[in-house]
Amino acid sequence: MGKTDVKLTGLSRFCGCGAKLPLGALDDLLKTIDLPVDRRVLVGLGSRDDAGVYKLNDDTALIFTTDIITPVANDAYSYGAIAATNALSDVYAMGGTPLMALNILCFPYKNLDPEIALGILHGAGDKLKEANCALVGGHSLDDQELKFGQAVVGTVHPDRLLTNAGAKPGDALVLTKPLGTGTAVKALKDGKRDEAFYAEAKKWMTTLNAKGAELAIHHGAHAMTDVTGFGLLAHAWNIARESGVSIEFDHRALPVLVGVMELLEAGDLSTALKNNWKFMRDKVRVGPGVSQAMVHLANDPQTSGGLLIAPPESHAAALVHDLKPFYGHAAIIGHVTDSKTGIALL
Ligand code: CO
Ligand code: CO
Repeated sequence: MGKTDVKLTGLSRFCGCGAKLPLGALDDLLKTIDLPVDRRVLVGLGSRDDAGVYKLNDDTALIFTTDIITPVANDAYSYGAIAATNALSDVYAMGGTPLMALNILCFPYKNLDPEIALGILHGAGDKLKEANCALVGGHSLDDQELKFGQAVVGTVHPDRLLTNAGAKPGDALVLTKPLGTGTAVKALKDGKRDEAFYAEAKKWMTTLNAKGAELAIHHGAHAMTDVTGFGLLAHAWNIARESGVSIEFDHRALPVLVGVMELLEAGDLSTALKNNWKFMRDKVRVGPGVSQAMVHLANDPQTSGGLLIAPPESHAAALVHDLKPFYGHAAIIGHVTDSKTGIALL
């Protein structure tokens, strides 16, 4: 019989979305494979969007996505809840409504108590209930490392689909949740901070992006994505690339979890954060007044991060106003320009 009093974040070499392969690692390899093409696919490989989208008819498109993460909380229930919130997020990020999910559980059966598996599934199930998303099955396997996630199917009207493409010069950029979850998880995993410190990160990682997406659509957003493992700058770069625009961030406006700047100033950087910056550094112009810790924050891998929304400038203040009761840190953090300057953190 395995143990239940185990610190789950200590089981994995990586944390949550930080366990992703580095951005770009698969690009060249994928080019060598002859992949099937289908004209009903509205969003496919290649675009770096949050999910695949398949047009069923003129009124309905299917959204299909999967996300699997290593433990980002020490208790099983929270880990399951965060993983589900994170998996559902890619449906919301495309402007869709989740319909049904499958659980995917990789479990070290010989070393861990089945109670832990139960806790994970319980936490995930409660989030699905909150999202009004059905659980229709799943798959489990005996694995050396604990991993959990979901595949989620949702729907969207083909004309109301929101992607990385569509941002227009003059749009504002709004972020709904504070940055820093990757660094917070790392501090918990390394034993440098306790559960009380971690509570704020956990609160945001279990907050659904449902309301944020609803409000973004209501305020006529042109483009949207969720900020996850590759960090704010890389997700913004996806928008810039797909929309054919440039993006300027105001570093003073970036919302951040309490205590995270201190950790970043001390140089407590995850491998994923360093990989993100390695990929982004030649694509980003950093202003003279921006501290190194702030650059790190903009590369921090997020798990179940907030939505990055490009609404028309005229709607940005109203959008933030409406987001505030649900996402207290929501803020205008930058704007979209047409100059060919790429990504700037000023
Ligand atoms: Co995403
Ligand atoms: Co994803």
